[in-house]
This record gives sequence, structure tokens and C-alpha cells, in this order.
Amino acid sequence: MTPGGADTSATAGSDALTAGSGKRLAVLISGRGSNLKALIDACADGRISGRVITVISNRPGAPGLEFAHAAGIAHAVVDHREYPDREAFDQALAYAIDATDPDLVILAGFMRILSDAFTRHFRGRMVNIHPSLLPDFRGLHTHARALASGASRHGASVHFVTPDLDGGPVIMQASVPICPGDDPDTLAARVQLAEHCLYPAAVGMICSGAIQEQGDHVLCDGRPLARPLQLDDLPEAATRCAGRS
Ligand code: GRF
Repeated sequence: MTPGGADTSATAGSDALTAGSGKRLAVLISGRGSNLKALIDACADGRISGRVITVISNRPGAPGLEFAHAAGIAHAVVDHREYPDREAFDQALAYAIDATDPDLVILAGFMRILSDAFTRHFRGRMVNIHPSLLPDFRGLHTHARALASGASRHGASVHFVTPDLDGGPVIMQASVPICPGDDPDTLAARVQLAEHCLYPAAVGMICSGAIQEQGDHVLCDGRPLARPLQLDDLPEAATRCAGRS
């Protein structure tokens, strides 16, 4: 993609301080950044063979930028409000990402709908985490909708990003129980704990080369997955991740 009037207010740190080597990861956030933190930690302790080389937020002052700052990771803001339309913003964002030459683009609570051109540009090398057991509850307010559905379990999914919103091929899921007395906040907190194990596990498999996207399928060790991997089926990932109940 071309610059398209990119206007980034970059606050660069040195990624030389970031532990680990391997794949170059660009993480996009809009808010709190707890998944970003989980990914930074997993790079530091070797669960992910890679390092976060840039963090980009579309919101100035996103709390998650502090995690990047604390880890000495270059970070930037590309504020969507400074662009006339979605296409112009997406072009500037793609330019900022491309400038860092990442192997994988990781959406971690990035609250923007992406244009077809953007998703095509990063096809096969961009992933998202969505707080539901896809294909259930695409879109927003997933915890309230899961509660209203009467389901007994809920969770989160990591998927490759395609133009179809929350519809790309699902790589891995983590499921949690829905407990009596849950409200959307208590359920969200339980799902988030699982996310902090799930996202590093899935990204770790991508960085090791075990997981790839091919067409509309996920390949695991070269073979199409019939169904998403389940975090609970991966004992090493599950046991090495603190905070999983
Ligand atoms: C997560 O729940 C994720 O599933 C959704 O946005 C939330 C981001 O949380 N896409 P955080 O900013 O990583 O804390």
C-alpha cells in the first residue's frame, strides 16, 4: 500500500530491549491492551518465537500503549479521526505497519472495521481474537448475547482475518463455563483470563510454522484442520499459562 497521506504521531522506543528473536510481530490495539501484555510476556519467556516490534493504536492515550512503553517497544498512534474516510485511514495504517516489515499483524482489541483492501493486503498474515466461540456471536456484545442464549459455555476464538467480519478461518478456541449468577462483566473477566493463554498459544504456533492459512482453511502441520484447535487439548500451553482456571 502507498502512504496515502499517513499522519502518524509516533513515539518510538528501542525494540533492541525486547527479549527474544524470530518472527516480527506488529500488534494493533485500541484500549486496555491486556492481550498485548500477554503476548509481550510470551515472547519474553519463549512461548512465542518472536518479538513485538511495534504497537499501533488508533486511539491516542490508549492504556495499552503503556505496556509497549514499559517494554521498550516502538509504538505509534494512527488516529482514525484525522482521516476523511475508512479507506484513507486504512491506507495510512497499512503504510505505518509496512514500514516496520512485520511477519504477522495481530489485532488485539483493535476496535475498527477494516476495509477489504486492508484485509486483502495482509491476508494470511493477520489474526484477530474475538470474544466468542465462533461462529457463534460475531460482532459486538458477545457476553450479553451468550448469557441471553442460555448456553452453558462461552469463550474466545483466534482466527485469520478476511474481509468477512469475524468470519475468517478459526485457528484455536478456549472455552469457559457460564456460571449461575454470571452477568456480562463476570463472564467477560473469565473469558479474558482464557484469552491471555489462548492468544499466545495460537500466535506461538503460527510463529513456529505449525499453523498457516491456505485459502479458507487453516493448515496445522500441513494438513487442513477439520475443526478449530482447542486450548484445553494443548497441555503444554494450558499448563504454562498462569491465570487459567
Ligand atoms: C478482548 O476481549 C478481545 O477478545 C476483544 O477485545 C478485547 C480486548 O481486550 N477483541 P484488551 O484490550 O486486550 O484488554
